[in-house]
Amino acid sequence: METYILAIETSCDETAAAVIKNGTDIISNVVSSQIDSHKRFGGVVPEIASRHHVEQITIVIEEALAKANMTPNDLTAVAVTEGPGLVGALLIGINAAKAFAFAHGLPIVGTHHIAGHIYANNLVQPMEFPLLALVVSGGHTEIVLMKEHGHFELIGETRDDAAGEAYDKVARVLNLPYPGGPHIDRLAHEADEAVKFPRIWLEEGSYDFSFSGLKSAVINYKHNMDQRGEEIIPAHVAKGFQDSVVEVLTAKTLRAAREFGVKQVIAAGGVSANKGLRTSLEETFAQEGIPFYVPPLHLCTDNAAMIGAAAHYMFVAGVRGNMAMNGRPGMELKTWV
Ligand code: KG4
Ligand code: ZN
Repeated sequence: METYILAIETSCDETAAAVIKNGTDIISNVVSSQIDSHKRFGGVVPEIASRHHVEQITIVIEEALAKANMTPNDLTAVAVTEGPGLVGALLIGINAAKAFAFAHGLPIVGTHHIAGHIYANNLVQPMEFPLLALVVSGGHTEIVLMKEHGHFELIGETRDDAAGEAYDKVARVLNLPYPGGPHIDRLAHEADEAVKFPRIWLEEGSYDFSFSGLKSAVINYKHNMDQRGEEIIPAHVAKGFQDSVVEVLTAKTLRAAREFGVKQVIAAGGVSANKGLRTSLEETFAQEGIPFYVPPLHLCTDNAAMIGAAAHYMFVAGVRGNMAMNGRPGMELKTWV
């Protein structure tokens, strides 16, 4: 079935709209970032995020259609991130999607944000099943097994902080700007030495993660150095922290890929933009002989193209939302087939 889906994403701090053909082709992809407005607060302020979304959403949708050189009549459906995310932020996108769908007589599809991150890969090369996805973002750290389109099985998840959250918190300890992930990544690559931090493996065989202990180890290290009147070397701390995160993420993903005999491993979410992690996963799976893919950077962080990719497969499977759709901040990643 041929589809042209207008997709909308407003779950956090990017206001985004895209037109996607058949779940694989990006016709247009517009992202308006608010990061600068949140920087001075050291994190996303929900009220400010909502206000920005209100100001930007119509502009972004119009731009996505204009860039695609399309009118609403050319569209098959409207897709929008239903959750998880900030409820006030989600609602702006959802209400815009409902209004657009109602005005133009189009069906609406409510999409899971993490399904979107995973499906960003489908915009680069076709997903092949069974597939293992390592999802690492500001709010999520999960290993997901997919046996077919729309099938999601949670193999492991974080028990406390998400990987991106840990990056952002450690960055704050090092006085780096928000969001801290890219800064730690850059510093880690400049370092010739690493402070030794623990690897948190949890009980044997577990695919779960824990990053709060590592974060505390960094904080304690800085505290001890301060008390001794010694200066920390931020690059060495950044490398020590990143080495620990990357080693654990890579090892658990590899073990899961072997156990489930997958045909493909993919990485998704904002932290998959991390150079250290990309290199480690690429090398590991090249050696293992399992194809590994990660989208280009602009498709790793929040965007609407990924939502349109996931929504195509939902639409084809007959999934439809309705005008009662609400923002679902704690929405779970559920199988739709
Ligand atoms: O997926 P995303 O854009 O938003 C969420 O859905 O959460 O992920 C944002 C997270 C932030 O925590 C940010 O610090 C992190 O992704 N991030 C990175 C890098 N680029 C973005 N973390 C580590 N290394 C990077 N290069
Ligand atoms: Zn995201």
